[in-house]
Formats: sequence, C-alpha cells, structure tokens
Amino acid sequence: MELNGKLTVVTGGTRGVGAGIAHAFAEAGADVVICARRPPDTPLKGTEFLPLDVRDPDAVQALFDGLPRVDVLVNNAGGTPYRPLTGTATDPGTDARRHARVIDLNLTAPLTVSLAAHAHLRRSRGSIVMIGSVSGSRPSPGSAAYGAAKAGLEHLARSMAVEWAPDIRVNTLVLGMVRTELSHLHYGDEHGVAAVARTVPLGRLADPSDVGGAAVFLASDAAAYITGASLLVHGGGERPAFLDAATADRPPTDDTGRRYTTDGTGRGTPDDSNGTRGGGR
Ligand SMILES: NC(=O)c1ccc[n+]([C@@H]2O[C@H](COP(=O)([O-])OP(=O)(O)OC[C@H]3O[C@@H](n4cnc5c(N)ncnc54)[C@H](OP(=O)(O)O)[C@@H]3O)[C@@H](O)[C@H]2O)c1
Repeated sequence: MELNGKLTVVTGGTRGVGAGIAHAFAEAGADVVICARRPPDTPLKGTEFLPLDVRDPDAVQALFDGLPRVDVLVNNAGGTPYRPLTGTATDPGTDARRHARVIDLNLTAPLTVSLAAHAHLRRSRGSIVMIGSVSGSRPSPGSAAYGAAKAGLEHLARSMAVEWAPDIRVNTLVLGMVRTELSHLHYGDEHGVAAVARTVPLGRLADPSDVGGAAVFLASDAAAYITGASLLVHGGGERPAFLDAATADRPPTDDTGRRYTTDGTGRGTPDDSNGTRGGGR
C-alpha cells in the first residue's frame, strides 16, 4: 500500500502505538509529522517532530496553520492512569475534574485537532483515523472516564464521517491490548504479559506495527469507500467469561475437579487441557 508524499500527522507519535503508526506511514512513503509534549527518546526515521499539547486549542491551530498541507490525520495521543471513580486508598477523591481531564485528552482533544486540520483535509480530500479502544464498548472498571471517552470518540467519528463526506473520510481503529514500552504498568512483568497474552484468541498482544498496518490501510486508496467505520484490531477479542463459569455443555469432572473427556465407552480419560469449549485460553 503506497502513500507516496502524503503528509500525515500522527499525534502522540513519539512512542508506543503512535511510533508504530508513524513508522508504518513512513515505510509506505508518507511524509510524517509526529507531535507530542516531549520529543522521542531517539529520533524516529522518516519523521519530523513538532512539540504540541493536544489539549491546547491555540497551539493546535498554530501547528496546522504552519503546515503546507495535510492528507492524513491520525488522532492517537491518549491514555489514562488507573483511576477508579472514587479514587484509590492512597489517592482518594471524588472530584469529577480528575476524570474530566481524561475525557479532555481522549475525546475533546481529537475533536480539537480534527477541527484544526479540517480545511487542509477538505482541500486534499484526505482522511482521519481515530485510535479507539475496546474499553469504549465494554465495562471499563478503573478507567471509566477513559472508556466513556473512547465510546464518544467512535461516535464522534461516525458523525464526522457524515458531516464531512464526501471530502474527508473518518474511521476508527478499535484496539485491544498492544505491547508497548509501558505494558508493565498495565499487565506487570513478563509473566503478567504472557498470562494476559494467553487470554487473546490469537495468543499474543498486538504489536504497534499491527496497528500501523491497519491505519495505513484505512488512509489508503484501498479504503476509498470506507468511512464512518470501526475496525477491531484486537486479535479476536475476549473469550466470554460465562463459557468458563457455565456447567452446561462441558465434559464431566471427577470429585477433585479434574475434567474428563468421554471416549464413547462411558469411561473417562483425564484431560488437563482445561476442556472448555472452543479450546482453552
Ligand atoms: N497500549 C494499549 O494497549 C492500547 C489499547 C487500546 C487503545 N490504546 C490507545 O492507543 C493510543 C496510544 O496509546 P499508547 O499505549 O501508545 O500510549 P503511550 O505509550 O502513553 O503514548 C502516548 C503518546 O501520546 C503523547 N501524549 C500524551 N498526552 C499528550 C498531550 N496532552 N498532547 C500531545 N501528546 C500527548 C505521548 O507523548 P508525551 O507524553 O510526550 O506528550 C505519547 O507520544 C491511545 O489513544 C490509547 O488510548 C492503547
């Protein structure tokens, strides 16, 4: 897929998912601008860094006013700390402004950036890729404001796609778990990451390059008729928890809890693979 010379802006393109996206666009021949509050630790080949806080509308507008053109915008900057609604034991509090800041970054800022890029994108008949999350469509305990913002982001993208058609296409990549430099903050050490990976049908977390490939596709001519769409990049998602809890349609267990598979003679054979429908995790 080729994006030769297309000017692409990736917010939060300095590390993690955003760096994977920026790399994929550069590989596809795009001219890539990455922006974040701090520069990348090491320069990313094929990209130009411009400092920006996406929550500052004036700075965002100034950045886009200074660009000669924009063909693709990837609204990637986002994220949240672990933040239960009523705080934690060491950091209690019910001040809704703490959660509003998360919504600012994950919902208001992508709108701010999209509006600032709108005139450029209309001229170039360009496209926007929002970076959403599965947290936007399932309960998100510990990051409720983030989940709500990501749900809103997907909805915003669908409305934007209609308001700005036929000039600008707008789509969302809905991400599951991605392996980044900061994965240990969410999943713990290597054992934690490996255990979490086993819960994914494809058996691993996504690599930022997986997200990059999907974003390049949505920005390319191959997706010329795709707008207002959400594309799941989650390796098959989450196995429904009830399947492991249910007692129906499962092989019988002995009184130690070990599960037996029947061999047609009525005698069981031990099965330590955990015997759940559709294979274990
Ligand atoms: N990693 C996952 O498993 C996962 C899963 C689902 C969805 N996502 C989504 O993927 C996106 C990237 O996540 P990530 O895990 O790669 O996060 P990350 O490693 O924390 O990187 C976030 C990037 O955004 C930048 N950023 C943060 N606040 C900013 C601000 N106010 N203004 C400008 N840039 C800002 C950061 O740079 P500075 O701090 O220097 O500004 C950094 O470049 C987010 O939208 C996240 O919700 C990630």
